[in-house]
Amino acid sequence: MSAHEGYPWGWFVVGFSDEIEVGGIKNLKYFGQHMVAFRGEDGNVSILDAYCPHLGAHLGVGGTVEGCTIRCPFHAWRFDGAGTCVEVPYAKRIPPKAKVKSWHVVERNGLVFLWYDRAGGPPNYEIPVLPEYGDPEWGPWDVKLLHIKTHPREVIENMADSGHFPRVHGTHVDLFENEFTDLLCIQRIKGVAYPRGGGRDDFELEATYYGPGYHISRMEGVMASRLLLAHTPVDENSIDLRFGAMIKKVGDEAKTKLYSGMYVKNLQVGFEEDIEIWENKLYRDRPALCDGDGPIGKLRRWYRRFYADAPASLGD
Ligand code: FES
Ligand SMILES: [Fe+2]
Repeated sequence: MSAHEGYPWGWFVVGFSDEIEVGGIKNLKYFGQHMVAFRGEDGNVSILDAYCPHLGAHLGVGGTVEGCTIRCPFHAWRFDGAGTCVEVPYAKRIPPKAKVKSWHVVERNGLVFLWYDRAGGPPNYEIPVLPEYGDPEWGPWDVKLLHIKTHPREVIENMADSGHFPRVHGTHVDLFENEFTDLLCIQRIKGVAYPRGGGRDDFELEATYYGPGYHISRMEGVMASRLLLAHTPVDENSIDLRFGAMIKKVGDEAKTKLYSGMYVKNLQVGFEEDIEIWENKLYRDRPALCDGDGPIGKLRRWYRRFYADAPASLGD
């Protein structure tokens, strides 16, 4: 059996909060399944399997949100956020089988997270609050979404791959360190980036994965920034990659927006450089590594745990 059979367990970003307004519906496809997300009048987002347990209509295509429920477009059955049928307009009795799977959802830091565990177990860790999000001294997220034909292990591998920075990103690396815990994978880099537009940028960065699909980088210096990277399997061969930046406010709103926009542009250029490699490479189980490579073996061991059975709780 392959080390990466199926999908990893964990919290995964499936949308930006501002994409789903109250009463709004968003259709999703992740982990090879169709789902429907909707925001009820209480402000909470619920995610259900897309197909109605009655005769199989897609709830998100023509369905409507009523209060905190969604009404099917076909025969108007209504389901709450837990997937329980609460109304069949033309029946005296609601059939006990009228239930659709609901997913654990958490909204944090302007992002909608879905918990995935193939065995259906409950979440075993929490996504930490990012204090800068919503802080009046900080600008909002500036974000982008890319669909990439690759396996998430390729994106993860960047964390320990010190050797690709000069060649792929034109970055000079002075210090490169990794640290692993049960849940976290941390990367610390000091180096010099040469933005494609010209100039040089001495940077110091600490990047942390909280589980297998969500990652925040903290950069301090003349301009403090927080970078987001989140990737979620769409199916076994492709991912949605969301990334973004927020910066500590500089001058007025327009100037902050301009700078965070530049960060996002730079990030996008960086990802595009990686993507061409990812979409065309193969995965070597036993790579020929050299002494100058980062701890790729350690990183792989860390990542593989998310493909094993999810523990009820984590050590840290
Ligand atoms: S298919 Fe949804 S109510 Fe009939
Ligand atoms: Fe990279």
